[in-house]
Amino acid sequence: MRSYYIAGNWKMHKTVSESVQLAQELKDKLSGSKEKIMIAPAFTALDAVSKVLKGSNILLGAQNMGPEEQGAHTGEVSVLMLKDIGVKVVILGHSERRHTYLETDALINKKVRLALAHDMEVILCVGETLAEREAGMLESVVSTQLKEGLAGVGVDALSKVTIAYEPVWAIGTGKTATPEDADAVHAYCRSVIRGLYGEEAAKNVVIQYGGSVKPDNAASLMAKPNIDGALVGGASLDAKTFVPIVQFRS
Ligand code: 13P
Repeated sequence: MRSYYIAGNWKMHKTVSESVQLAQELKDKLSGSKEKIMIAPAFTALDAVSKVLKGSNILLGAQNMGPEEQGAHTGEVSVLMLKDIGVKVVILGHSERRHTYLETDALINKKVRLALAHDMEVILCVGETLAEREAGMLESVVSTQLKEGLAGVGVDALSKVTIAYEPVWAIGTGKTATPEDADAVHAYCRSVIRGLYGEEAAKNVVIQYGGSVKPDNAASLMAKPNIDGALVGGASLDAKTFVPIVQFRS
């Protein structure tokens, strides 16, 4: 049975002290929550936030990681370093990594397999640009990102993977896919997983929606049968907006 999973991607925001303050506030306000919750601060704040979250129901996530365990990789952060400070989840293939930093499906797949080999949970992001959508390429883009991102990942490891559908045109723009539109793409993603891994895996895979999720649209998105949670950017930077998203059922 799938359960709701709400994650906050803080992107390149907040100093260490600001991150600690927000993490503490979330820990206090979300302690009784039934939903699965994750926050992903910047690398510099991970260690301090890890200490705040100890013993809480909020998982610590990283926004990216390097494709190798260690070595001469200037500027990269390794899965071993992340595990060492208590990171449990890593976001991979975010559209900002794909489009601004030109990460390919092959590179993303290498990171996915490395994270899973180290027992780290993965949120694999997929989604089309506006030009791709308008050219009728939505399904081919999303299925390629899923198939190539998950290449070599077995059905057991898949249980540690969450998919996040984030249409690029809806990220940080205030434009959201309608719940019906998003649900149709989620159903399509589920059918791709069915084709790769079978019915049971398709039923169990959690698919988050991301792209301008706010307190006032969270409930209608997550009411849809194929939308199992949210990957929240801007609205995750303030407890006033993130807490009501997590509490969308109350
Ligand atoms: P926004 O919620 O700011 O649109 O960002 C979505 C996102 O990219 C989360 O990963």
